[in-house]
Amino acid sequence: MRVLELDNVVGGYGDTQILHGVSMHVDAGEIVVIIGPNGAGKSTAMKAVFGLLKLTDGSVLLDGEAITNTPPEKVVRHGVCYVPQTGNIFPSLTVEENLEMGAYVRVDDFKPRLKEIYEMFPPLLEKRQQAAGTLSGGQRQMVAMGKALMLEPKILLLDEPTAGLSPKFRGEIFETVKKINRAGTPILMVEQNAKQALGIANRGYVLVDGKNRFEGTGKELLNDPEVAEMFLGGGKQSHKTGKA
Ligand SMILES: Nc1ncnc2c1ncn2[C@@H]1O[C@H](COP(=O)(O)OP(=O)(O)O)[C@@H](O)[C@H]1O
Ligand SMILES: [Mg+2]
Repeated sequence: MRVLELDNVVGGYGDTQILHGVSMHVDAGEIVVIIGPNGAGKSTAMKAVFGLLKLTDGSVLLDGEAITNTPPEKVVRHGVCYVPQTGNIFPSLTVEENLEMGAYVRVDDFKPRLKEIYEMFPPLLEKRQQAAGTLSGGQRQMVAMGKALMLEPKILLLDEPTAGLSPKFRGEIFETVKKINRAGTPILMVEQNAKQALGIANRGYVLVDGKNRFEGTGKELLNDPEVAEMFLGGGKQSHKTGKA
């Protein structure tokens, strides 16, 4: 079953068009990864789903229904949760307060869900009364994901969840992503650590200059010589300078 679909999406910021007809989809049960060079429009594609961008053409469908240009607060209520790359937690609030904030649009009792989130992220239970900003990078990312999952979303959008993390924490986050997915949530994820991300993905898309460039299963993309040379950079995290 198709959970999310971007069909020929065109849009950008102000008069600057960034997405020139991007198409992608996520089916039930899938982890789908978006890779591509810096500035390709990966984050912009996610923002397009979340209503943070004005789309001038194309459509975004959730469970087959159009949510094109729906504002973020409504997209959330439709069951899409988005964890941006930065500014995704409230650092001065405790871990538990962050998770409670994630439940703000719930009208029912969220306590059972809070318990499930702590079961999924045991370190967060231990640190639940600590200010979230004092946690390690990997654990802050867990808070951000846990906060999003409080709403039991139909789909979770993650923008570079391993950015800036050491290899050890990176591995933990990829394991966490798999765990979230196994528990039933489809995931659309942007990643710079392309090899590792494609390794856990059902499918992937390579975006370049606001357009689809390659797509396939994680395995197909990893084994495609052209993709490997251009985007998997022989073991390097990114073929752009400096940024891991
Ligand atoms: N808020 C914004 N206003 C104007 N231009 C933006 C904004 N955010 C991103 N851009 C531009 O859009 C292009 C795509 O950016 P982005 O989607 O963040 O790329 P990626 O996530 O693939 O690195 C870049 O040229 C970037 O400078
Ligand atoms: Mg980005």
